[in-house]
Amino acid sequence: MDCKRFVEEQIAQIKQTVGDAKAINALSGGVDSSLVTVLGHRALGDGLKTVFIDSALMREGEPLRVVETFARMDIPVELVDAQEEFLSALSGLTDPEEKRQAVTDTFYSKVFGRLVKESEAKFLFHGTILTDIEETVAGIKRQHNILAQVGIDTQEAYGYAVVEPLKTLRKDGVREVCRFLGLPADIAERIPFPGPGLATRVVGEVTRERLATVRAATAIVEEELGDSGAFQYMAVLLNDRATGIRDNKREFGQIIVVRCIESTDARTATATELTWEKLHRLCDRIVGEIEDVNRCLYDLTPKPPATIEYI
Ligand code: XMP
Repeated sequence: MDCKRFVEEQIAQIKQTVGDAKAINALSGGVDSSLVTVLGHRALGDGLKTVFIDSALMREGEPLRVVETFARMDIPVELVDAQEEFLSALSGLTDPEEKRQAVTDTFYSKVFGRLVKESEAKFLFHGTILTDIEETVAGIKRQHNILAQVGIDTQEAYGYAVVEPLKTLRKDGVREVCRFLGLPADIAERIPFPGPGLATRVVGEVTRERLATVRAATAIVEEELGDSGAFQYMAVLLNDRATGIRDNKREFGQIIVVRCIESTDARTATATELTWEKLHRLCDRIVGEIEDVNRCLYDLTPKPPATIEYI
């Protein structure tokens, strides 16, 4: 792939589309939205306002990490606290597509609607990539960031136009462009993290308490598998309980699944062959350090038939 050409073309295209108008984008901390932020700022400078929406669905320490990483590149990122809006939209929902829809509506209609109005932005930049579009159009899954491709006129529905500079790339292409631009490994090599965040890793209702459980497990998994070289790794909280014994007492505890996969573009994936030693360590830490979790399972299922995330 000709990265130089891609970058030049996208910057020219962004300048032409946006002109003197204002634009806004949200960083999730993932590689796609990070690249969009860098391209957008190179094209528009201060004309692009970047926000990090604290949806309550993010990983441990993520808001600060993102703000600091971008501050080192002289790109200011504003933190927006929208925790209550997301949690109340997700309250009571257990169906995966309804949960995805609630996240989409909260992002695009409520939170962005408000931010766009406040900032007078005419354009919203998105990190949509080709795989997101293909899977949504094929009806596999409603990716949270697919709008125009499923017939939503964002101008009419939300009052702003959406710009998607990465829509011809897959994940491997996104990383190639990040490396070409000399972005820090913390961005270029970061494992994918979906926009709807930990909501894709909580089966059943998403509550503050259940998010805290999956967030603690995620931190352990990321610490333990950070040097695995795998494409993606995560913790998932199931919507079921299992009997266990702790301190000589019977308990009915939570179940965490660890998923670690090999893939190049997220279209297909296979489980990583982790050593028994590593699997034992993950299990010991997860059931030992997280209150109320007494089972830890390792998911061997490839994609297909499974998807990578759980909702
Ligand atoms: P699945 O679960 O569909 O995931 O096999 C494929 C890749 O896409 C990520 N993913 C998302 N990314 N918004 C995103 O920005 C979403 O709604 C979304 N759902 C899944 C997932 O982490 C994996 O890398």
